[in-house]
Amino acid sequence: MDDRITLAREWTLSDDPRASICPFRAAARLHDGPDIFFKTGEVHVRDAGLGGNWVVTRHALQEEILLDPARFSSHLAIGFSKLAGDSWPLVPLELDPPEHTLYRKVIAPWFTPAKARELSGEIRALAARLIEGFRRHGAVEFVTAFGQPYPITVFLLMMGLAVEQMPIFLNWEEELLRGETMEIRGAAAIGIKSYLLDLIAQRRRAPGEDIISYLLAYRLDGAPIPDDRLMGLCFMLFAGGLDTVASSLGFIFRELALRPDLQDALRNDLGIIPAATDEFLRAFSVVNTFRYATCDMVFHGVQLNKGDLIQLPLGLASRDGKMHAAPHTIDFSRASKRSLAFSTGPHTCAGMHLARTEIRIALEEWIKHVPSWRISDPTQITTATESVWALHSLPLVWPPAS
Ligand code: HEM
Repeated sequence: MDDRITLAREWTLSDDPRASICPFRAAARLHDGPDIFFKTGEVHVRDAGLGGNWVVTRHALQEEILLDPARFSSHLAIGFSKLAGDSWPLVPLELDPPEHTLYRKVIAPWFTPAKARELSGEIRALAARLIEGFRRHGAVEFVTAFGQPYPITVFLLMMGLAVEQMPIFLNWEEELLRGETMEIRGAAAIGIKSYLLDLIAQRRRAPGEDIISYLLAYRLDGAPIPDDRLMGLCFMLFAGGLDTVASSLGFIFRELALRPDLQDALRNDLGIIPAATDEFLRAFSVVNTFRYATCDMVFHGVQLNKGDLIQLPLGLASRDGKMHAAPHTIDFSRASKRSLAFSTGPHTCAGMHLARTEIRIALEEWIKHVPSWRISDPTQITTATESVWALHSLPLVWPPAS
């Protein structure tokens, strides 16, 4: 019998009340079932019309897929351009090697550890400024006051855009990723695309020190980067670095609000914040990514057909007991915090040094300037469990400054 029938099951975290408390723990229940199953009941923009997609639940199997782009392609697997009615790939994420390798080299200078260090002064100033805006109030809704504006402003910095543009991007980001209908998501994709097209045209006329001007000046074998690849690159920078950082921060700051002992550990020794960042990223791996099978194959006993869509919830790899002892426990001194939070293989997150820097600095500035924070009203916390797992809101309180 077809494996898609024998291994079929409905899985929607959005209907699961346990997921609103912790999508990671709720999803980890899947580890009681098969390592690969066929998810039915939800339609994705990238769905190939097969009535569902495969879901891979174990770290080892996800890793095997991510390391093998020849059998598991990421070409158009995320699907933002399809939402905008186009077919350009996100660059480099939706390109397979060897073209992928070419574009990784193009963006590499902007994503080195040295570049992240260079930006860290401005990132710290930004974090401090945001915190100063609400510190005295003794209360804040974390997601809108910090989690979202912080990475968006870092993105604006790289793009050479004014901070005043932030609300536009905030709105588009929310609608693109979590718009209730495909129409809303499509309209956001079109809005972002036309904004980026205008911006590219402006930078062509008047280049600056920003990443778009750099891309426009870049020559591949003497030729400029083609327009569709340029769009894919710019869209990638928007889509890659905003919601991922915001969502990770949301779960991290909620965990700290629930665990004063963890806050104390960081307050007592700021030096453990880099290790804490890695452990938090392991425990709260927010990205769901996708691949297409490039050929018919039997993968760990399951018949996959060419064109099948495969979902990799990286948060499931993080909570896999076969990979990590006590996977739900936050342990800053855990021997191996190696995870798939930033993926692995050719598509390993290009922005990971920047992302780690943003998270580390956010933790340092909060720990230094905000006294012990708690959740004010747990009923106000809502989670989103679409492509990136996230918190919609996180109301925090702390003793106000006298
Ligand atoms: C905590 C924050 C972040 C997380 C968890 C994260 C996660 C990921 C993951 C899982 C992938 C690969 C997906 C796949 O293999 O299909 C990826 C790719 C990528 N990310 Fe990030 N990311 C974060 C922040 C950033 C930032 C700040 C940037 C910078 C703008 C960025 C830029 C990219 C790029 C350019 C790629 C494509 C790499 C390639 O295809 O070669 N990311 N990210």
